Order: sequence, then structure tokens, then C-alpha cells
Amino acid sequence: MSKIRSIRAGCSKLRTRQFLTKIEQFSTQRRKSILMWNPDFCKNNECCNDQWLIEDLSGLEKELNEKVFGQHLANKLVSEAVKSHIKNKDPKSPLVMSFHGRTGTAKTFVSQIVANSLFKKRIKSKFYQFKVATIHFKNNNNLKECKDELIKHIQYNSEQCYRMLFVFDEFDFMPVGLSDVMTPFLDYHAAVDGRDYRKNIFIFLSNVAGEVINDYIVRHYESNRPRESIVSKDLEKYIAITDLNSKGRFDDSKIINTKLINVYVPFLPLERKHVKQCAEAEIKKKNYSFKKSTLEAIANELDYFPDAIPWFYATGCKSVVNLVDQLPSD
Ligand SMILES: Nc1ncnc2c1ncn2[C@@H]1O[C@H](COP(=O)(O)OP(=O)(O)O)[C@@H](O)[C@H]1O
Ligand SMILES: [Mg+2]
Repeated sequence: MSKIRSIRAGCSKLRTRQFLTKIEQFSTQRRKSILMWNPDFCKNNECCNDQWLIEDLSGLEKELNEKVFGQHLANKLVSEAVKSHIKNKDPKSPLVMSFHGRTGTAKTFVSQIVANSLFKKRIKSKFYQFKVATIHFKNNNNLKECKDELIKHIQYNSEQCYRMLFVFDEFDFMPVGLSDVMTPFLDYHAAVDGRDYRKNIFIFLSNVAGEVINDYIVRHYESNRPRESIVSKDLEKYIAITDLNSKGRFDDSKIINTKLINVYVPFLPLERKHVKQCAEAEIKKKNYSFKKSTLEAIANELDYFPDAIPWFYATGCKSVVNLVDQLPSD
């Protein structure tokens, strides 16, 4: 199916997946009987057990700090929240995090690093479910159908493993009212329809509050304070207020209004030095040789803000990746 067609398909694309997952479910049931005959089954097939799930997350913060530049708040908040959730044998609710920031600041990248840290199969794990609102939940005309699909998506996957990582990108573009059906799965319920959802992790990615974060950091820099002295408490307050007041899809979201988000994670705009770090990492990934002047040239290609003192790069590291792609490979 072409990309355009699959995008247009909206919720029906998800239905096809669910048809396929139904077959998978059937084979899951069969798997139990296969297991009786073949105890080696889980050696070669991903199962929800300690052979495939990673319990020791002691390296997560280090990995985030090594790979994600300029995001001291996000790296700390995410690694602490995920580690303590996984360590807790009896969490009272799932871990629900909301990532905020302008495009290209590493929201998707950080959720992938979290997936890599939780599952041996890393982002290929079937216990990592990444959905993009504008692709998978686009069908505004049939909200009821979309709601059913979303409920099934969460229920079916949670049956596969008690520890699922659900990531919803472009969460602010969910059709109005759709995300409300998620609230029972995010709340402090011991069980919903006999199933316990509390070991799951949900991450919502959005650009909402990007401007608020940018304004905040500009004021912080204007008063000559270092980036690392920004503390999450202050920013969290601003983001939560923006969420509540934002005109658009977050409007009236039950998830926001009933305070089901445990951690608001701000992604800060990046400085020139971070952009160069991103470029260097990307060049190394491709095994290209590079000179310092290449990094300078890439950084010079980009637009910075505010106009008065151009501290921050306007569109994050995403276009850096594209610029590196255009470099000659020798
Ligand atoms: N802060 C950062 N540190 C290192 N790499 C980054 C950073 N931000 C973005 N990148 C790079 O840019 C790519 C695109 O970023 P992405 O996570 O998709 O941005 P977002 O989801 O915030 O729009 C990432 O895969 C990563 O390679
Ligand atoms: Mg993204």
C-alpha cells in the first residue's frame, strides 16, 4: 500500500493490523501448547519473560546522556521515572509521561532509547508499540470506530505482556475526544475487565508547549543563568498549564483534566554546540570521515533564534540528519 493510501486509511489500517494480530493471538494460545512440547520455544521467539525483558536499567541514564545532547532535564526525568517504575513490583498506576518540545529535539529518539533499554529485541520488540496519531488515528468521520480500535490496541497488546511500552506520537493531533477512551487504562485501577495494566508505560509526544519552553529558556539565558540550572519543577508547571489551556486537540482531554500524566518532560531548544554534536554523531554513524570545518559548515546552514542573540537552533537536529545525508561519502 502506498504511503498516501495508508495514511488516508486512518483507523482502517489499524484494523488490518488487528486482523493480523488476531491470528497472532491465536498462535499465542497455541504457543502454550507448543511450549509443553517444546520448552526451547522461547529461546528463539520473543516471550514475555526475563529472557526477553530487561530488568537492569542501571545504564539507561548514561546511555541517554551519551546520545542525547542538551537535554539534561529529559534525560534525568525519563531515566528516573522508568527505572523506578520497573523496579516497583506493585506500581499503583501505569507510568504515563508526556514529552513536550519543538520538532527535532529528540522526543522520538528518547522513546526509542527507552524501548532499547527495556527489551532485548530493542525497538523491534513486539512489546514496543509506536503509533502516530495523524496516521493511525486519523479517521475523524467515525470517532466511535476509532475509539474501538484504540481500546482494542491497548487491550490486545497488554494481553501479550504485562510490560508494554505504548508510544503515541503527534498526540496533540488525536481527533478530539478519542484519547478519553484511554483513561481507564492509565488510571489507578487494580484491574480493568480483569486485567492489570499498571506495569505498562505510556508516552505521549507532542509539540504543545514548545513555545512556552522556548520563551522560558530565552528568559533564563537573558538573566545569564546556565542551561543546566533549569529545574524541571518550574517548567513542569508551565507545561501543565499550557496543556490545560491549549486550543485544539488537548482541549478537554480527560487524560489532562483527571491528572493522569505522572511526568511532564520538557525538551529544550538546542544550541549551536549541540547541533554540531548531532552532526558529528550522525557522521560517525555513517562511518564518514569528517573535518571540524564540516561541522561548522552544517551549523552555518541553519536558522537560529531569538533574533537579538541567536542562541538556539530553530528546528532541532532533524534537519542536521538530512544535511549529513547530503554529504559526499568519501
Ligand atoms: N538532542 C539530541 N541529541 C542527539 N540527537 C538528536 C537530538 N535531537 C534530535 N536528534 C537526532 O535527530 C533525529 C530526529 O529527532 P527526533 O527524536 O525524531 O525529534 P522529535 O521527535 O523531537 O521531533 C533523532 O533520531 C536523532 O538522531
Ligand atoms: Mg518525533
